[in-house]
Amino acid sequence: MASTLVILLLPLLVSLASASHHYGSASTFTYKGKNPDGSHRIDVRSRETFTGCHFVLNWNCYSGNCGSRTSYRRGTLDSNPSAVGYNRRWCETETVATRRVTSDKPFDLRASSCCWVSNRNHVSSWSPLTSVDLGIRSDTGKPNRSPDIAILPSLRVPQNCPQTYKLPSFDPDGDNVRCRYGSIRSVECSSCTSPSGFDLDQGSCTLNYRSAPADSKAFAFEMVVEDFPKTNISLIYDDGSRSYRTPLPVRAKRQATATMYPGAITPLSKLPLHFSFLVNPSAPSCQEGLYLPRLLPPTPANGARIQAEINKELEIKVKAQASSARIIDIMISGPLNISNHRTTNGDFAIRWTPITDELGNYFSICFAVEAMAGSRIYQSEMRCVVVDVVDQKVKSYVSCSESAMTVEIEKSSFPLLSEDHLRLNDPTNTVCSLQRHSNSTHVVAVIPLNACGTQIEEDDDNLIFTNEITTVDRGTDVITRKHLLEVQVCCQYPKRGNVSQSFTVHRPNVTVWEKGYGRFTYGFEFYPDSTFRTMVDPNSYPLEYEIGSRVFMQIEATSSINNTELFVESCTAAPYDNPNSRPKYTIIENGCNVDSTLQSYTPDHQRQFKFSMEAFKFIGQNNQVYISCSVMMCEAGNPNTRCAQGCINSTQPGGRLIAKREVVTQTSRHLVSQGPLRLKRSAEGAESPVMNLNLNLVFIAGCLLAAVGMISAVIMYKTKVSKVKYQPLPTFES
Ligand SMILES: *[C@@H]1O[C@H](CO)[C@@H](O)[C@H](O)[C@H]1NC(C)=O
Ligand SMILES: *[C@@H]1O[C@H](CO)[C@@H](O)[C@H](O)[C@H]1NC(C)=O
Ligand SMILES: *[C@@H]1O[C@H](CO)[C@@H](O)[C@H](O)[C@H]1NC(C)=O
Ligand SMILES: *[C@@H]1O[C@H](CO)[C@@H](O)[C@H](O)[C@H]1NC(C)=O
Ligand SMILES: *[C@@H]1O[C@H](CO)[C@@H](O)[C@H](O)[C@H]1NC(C)=O
Ligand SMILES: *[C@@H]1O[C@H](CO)[C@@H](O)[C@H](O)[C@H]1NC(C)=O
Ligand SMILES: *[C@@H]1O[C@H](CO)[C@@H](O)[C@H](O)[C@H]1NC(C)=O
Repeated sequence: MASTLVILLLPLLVSLASASHHYGSASTFTYKGKNPDGSHRIDVRSRETFTGCHFVLNWNCYSGNCGSRTSYRRGTLDSNPSAVGYNRRWCETETVATRRVTSDKPFDLRASSCCWVSNRNHVSSWSPLTSVDLGIRSDTGKPNRSPDIAILPSLRVPQNCPQTYKLPSFDPDGDNVRCRYGSIRSVECSSCTSPSGFDLDQGSCTLNYRSAPADSKAFAFEMVVEDFPKTNISLIYDDGSRSYRTPLPVRAKRQATATMYPGAITPLSKLPLHFSFLVNPSAPSCQEGLYLPRLLPPTPANGARIQAEINKELEIKVKAQASSARIIDIMISGPLNISNHRTTNGDFAIRWTPITDELGNYFSICFAVEAMAGSRIYQSEMRCVVVDVVDQKVKSYVSCSESAMTVEIEKSSFPLLSEDHLRLNDPTNTVCSLQRHSNSTHVVAVIPLNACGTQIEEDDDNLIFTNEITTVDRGTDVITRKHLLEVQVCCQYPKRGNVSQSFTVHRPNVTVWEKGYGRFTYGFEFYPDSTFRTMVDPNSYPLEYEIGSRVFMQIEATSSINNTELFVESCTAAPYDNPNSRPKYTIIENGCNVDSTLQSYTPDHQRQFKFSMEAFKFIGQNNQVYISCSVMMCEAGNPNTRCAQGCINSTQPGGRLIAKREVVTQTSRHLVSQGPLRLKRSAEGAESPVMNLNLNLVFIAGCLLAAVGMISAVIMYKTKVSKVKYQPLPTFES
């Protein structure tokens, strides 16, 4: 009997323990119009943070007619896979669910389950509630739009450093937005407490952290965001009925208690804003810029409004500084498909491309930068911006080649536009003149990657070249055209892997941020000797290599831009054209020479790599071998790049950044094979005491590889005489 009991209890205990996984959630909705059958379409966005990316809130209909979910999209916004110190693992996702509802009457969606991560104010189950009312507003003539709320997955503050959090509460209808603690138990909240040590200004949605003892457990906040009209309005429904909404009394906005007027005034909508807040041990100083990172220009101000054009990438630059701590990470929250990147000079870029379906909508994006000193993590202030998705303003197109970016702007899309009034960053060189390529319909700029003031920037994955076209005044002009138009042009070249879409980005005012994707071309050639003078003629194949002789190889980026350098990160020989195939013989790894016969030679320039090795070294029991090299381009002379780091012995404690880069290498590896290059092998006349083999190297294809970050030339070794015995290599990886 006793043993049965244990067996029954065990799964229960396990599921309770593993169920503690929720950090919070926030939800908004957007009315998408009527279906042909008269039903309504709405998108409900739910941002959710859990201990893992696979968890998801299960929204159910709590009251009214919630219709049915017809489709949904879901993705990860941000996560911290490498949790350090107090930092528990978290993953923030967004689900955009499209619902079809047959009625425009109010309804409530609720996701109720268990359990929050263990917290200090004893919130166990969660119950975020989203209240929607699609009646037509008498003031706007449209259904209500929800406020655009957002919060970071996890906030933290040292106990001795008071901090203010202005929660985003932008309302597209201009309504008054109120943030309060949830008050209706098991509907809006599960414990319905207001955490001590904080005060909340409901009317401005400002949360002030005053003081609380440090604790490894976070506070769980269960807040509710509501919108109220500024004047008396009515909502008119499909069936002809009406309901009325009144503004918040002025007094109620100041009131800070959770139980104020429960249900007294009906809001237009009600949204959940649930999050975790950690109070850490004291910091040696609360001054920003020492331990707590200070956000510096060009980081946008809190509450900034930013315009994003559909199908153009929006980039928000975030720069932070902490002199007594090391900046480690940025934490973001924003719409689906948002991403964050770190540049080699330590800044961050948040990128997002709105799609046509998002035209006219608003999205909040929040971010904070984290720094580490010892095992402590310090978070900067949280800033949130509102992104307004607008249509394209100026019709322009960017294309990127190996050595130049070309931008074409339709004159008709921007009256007054003339190439006479436009210039590049540095127009002193005549090749930088915009008159050269422009015609009657288009302003055309062909901008070299290494002239005309083109800037270079780099992150983990890309080399990014930027320039801009700005307006200038001629002395004879009466009116000033300064700042009228600013076209920022950007070409992004993946350091590894290949991509070939192009897209564009927009900035407020009439600044156009144009971005394209380009690719560099690399050549992988074989040479007869160490002079590397004349490459082996592809028509002269098959080539025969005597046993013990050397294979001379050269990799070269054909781009002529001199502000970049080439780096060969790894080379392997494997029996299949797949970097994961086994067995694999490593020639170069992490920039370190592994093969003992490998020899490299002084290159003619920074974008060239010359090397040789003994051919027979990599023959195993397989009769063919492919050689694949992973190469990358970096900004020349920048000491922070992977290229500048050279050989990184992986047995050394490398640090997070290096570990992350290695992951990138693995995942974005893309093999472009050309060939195969065949090596015929003959046993006749072999003189090698080692292998008794004769090797013939045969090219059957050209050697110019149009790869981007990756070169793969292929060498296949084949037996002519099948009875030849091969000696397995001792250095094969298992
Ligand atoms: C708004 O409506 C309320 C009652 O519904 C009424 O007491 C108030 O006077 C109205 N305010 C205005 C400005 O009409
Ligand atoms: C997000 O990205 C995926 C693929 O990366 C794409 O299929 C999807 O359409 C994108 N969604 C949005 C909303 O941009
Ligand atoms: C002007 O240049 C653009 C871009 O090269 C081209 O598409 C267009 O046809 C040209 N227009 C004329 C009138 O030559
Ligand atoms: C990479 O390039 C190859 C050949 O040019 C192409 O077939 C492949 O689709 C490209 N991959 C991506 C992800 O663009
Ligand atoms: C663009 O920005 C400049 C300031 O940089 C401002 O003077 C100008 O009025 C703005 N133009 C428009 C059209 O908003
Ligand atoms: C790069 O090349 C350009 C033109 O080819 C030249 O003007 C410039 O001085 C070069 N820069 C360096 C650092 O070599
Ligand atoms: C890496 O370092 C270890 C010990 O520090 C050494 O034995 C090994 O040979 C090194 N490998 C390379 C490729 O330099």
